[in-house]
Amino acid sequence: MCGIIGYVGNKPAMPILINALLSMEYRGYDSAGVALIEQENLRLVRAPGKMANLLKKIGDDHGLATVGIGHTRWATHGAPTEINAHPHLDCQGKIALLHNGIIENYLEIKTKLQAQGHIFRSDTDTEVLPHLLEHYYQGDLGAAMRKVVTELRGAYAIVAICVQEPGKLVAARQDSPLIVGLGDKEFFFASDMAALVEHTREMMVLQNGDVAELCEEGVTVYHNNQKVGRRILHVEWDKEAAQKGGYPHYMIKEIHEQGVALRQTLRGRLERNAAAIDLGELDFSEEYIRGVNKIAIVACGTAYHAGLVGKYALEKMLRLPVEVDIASEFRYRDPLVNSQTLVIVVSQSGETADTLAALRESKKRGAKVLAICNVVASSIALEADYVLFTYAGKETAVASTKAYSTQLMIFYMFAIYLAARLGKLNASEQQKLTEELCALPEKVQQLLSDTEKRIKALTEKLFLEGRQDCFFIGRGLDNYVAMEGALKLKEISYIHAEAYAAGELKHGTIALIEPGTPVIALCTQQSLQEKMISNIKELQARGAYVAGLCFLGNEQIEQVCEETLQVPETIDLLAPILSVVPLQMLAYYAALARECDVDQPRNLAKSVTVE
Ligand code: M6R
Repeated sequence: MCGIIGYVGNKPAMPILINALLSMEYRGYDSAGVALIEQENLRLVRAPGKMANLLKKIGDDHGLATVGIGHTRWATHGAPTEINAHPHLDCQGKIALLHNGIIENYLEIKTKLQAQGHIFRSDTDTEVLPHLLEHYYQGDLGAAMRKVVTELRGAYAIVAICVQEPGKLVAARQDSPLIVGLGDKEFFFASDMAALVEHTREMMVLQNGDVAELCEEGVTVYHNNQKVGRRILHVEWDKEAAQKGGYPHYMIKEIHEQGVALRQTLRGRLERNAAAIDLGELDFSEEYIRGVNKIAIVACGTAYHAGLVGKYALEKMLRLPVEVDIASEFRYRDPLVNSQTLVIVVSQSGETADTLAALRESKKRGAKVLAICNVVASSIALEADYVLFTYAGKETAVASTKAYSTQLMIFYMFAIYLAARLGKLNASEQQKLTEELCALPEKVQQLLSDTEKRIKALTEKLFLEGRQDCFFIGRGLDNYVAMEGALKLKEISYIHAEAYAAGELKHGTIALIEPGTPVIALCTQQSLQEKMISNIKELQARGAYVAGLCFLGNEQIEQVCEETLQVPETIDLLAPILSVVPLQMLAYYAALARECDVDQPRNLAKSVTVE
């Protein structure tokens, strides 16, 4: 996601901004820019693509400005072009502003400002902010910012400068991280500690609702228009540790980011107490959706596993046939796809060659394609007819974690949205599901804090004695999550793992069970619990060591299994978003115990752009 830096002090600002942006490259971005106050004028430089393009445009002339802001943009609203790159300006070119997050009500604000004569130049949601600041500005940028934030809905970390107050930076934060760095007569704003550790170890984390002002003398923080104090932290991390947010690996950081990522996926589409899901980005006509007689989901790896859960949810709610294909198989089987088929391609990166080829093949056959994707300017997002972005933020570890859970969230929202539009879901069923979807981010967070130690201990017990194989079993939805659990374990710990439909083992594979074979039995589907227990017993009779994964307080599973992993209770249909989390952690701790390269497993790449 976007990287933010702001500097005020007594040193030339340009090299500080550039180095900070370079140190945040790992966050992912597709354009970059800086704005500095030079002799009462704004110097604005922006470029699409990587930092090298920006550096080329800046050239050797770094100037002597000691105040400035810089940004690496990860596109959400509007393509990654120079005009959409941050910072953005007000009409008069006196205020420069950058932003990380999404302003949900930007269209409403934009319409109002345009009616007042403000001229917009970009396609971004962000550009409403400098114009709104201009609207409120009466000689005090901080006071104007405090008014601006009362009009905003959504997530933001904002930093602004104004040529009329050349020694000042003003910032605001809501649901997007923003840190203040406190140096010796120099102060910083950054979205990331990694950008600051080479300048200072003294940091202050702004809270939601804070508006802060920085000048050479120090920092002032306001909350609800009142001055407040915030604790100063002394950070010991080096740069690399700071990039990982203090976690030892990106994978575990990204596992822990899932609560926040899921909230981002919901944001603007489903709010607590909302009557319905708003997928305004899909301009499906009534005639089109009523004419769809089949859905085909196509993806690879983890995204394919998300597609299987998607199939289950869509079929259950729409009562329409849904097929799921592995993308590398899809186009070679002469698929039955035509203009009445809605094809859904799922891809975190949006660049997976097989998925892209499936998209093109589907379009050739006359189908409309909906992409579920995380990277806004990716090929898949650009070529699809419709896109639902997951907004999970950059995923750096090769093993997909937050991409999967946010893909599931999109599938659930899409299934509910479509079923409601087609009149296949009544208001009370819809309300029950949407309320629970809104509760899931918090449940994920609770689960993460409650179970990590327990999973670590269990992993050591299951795998340390040199075990080379493991089974993941389940029925219904649990079977699909088992597949994702097995993939995670294989790809990062190199332990051979197999996912099996629990009822299918006895048709052959049970021959592999021997005393001590670890089995993870997923038991979240209550209507299938008795059958699961019988399957667990069959395995135990052959010596398997079974860890059951169930909802909290499920005593039956606790009694039957050697170990249990528990997740907060939810509606069975939504369980995958919770049950996958312990499996991701299990894989992580197994890989750690076996001293594997967790973030860069052997033979694998994050984005597979060859067929
Ligand atoms: O970027 P994509 O979602 O299209 O990638 C598809 C797979 O390569 C990917 O999900 C892969 O299986 C994961 N990295 C596994 O964790």
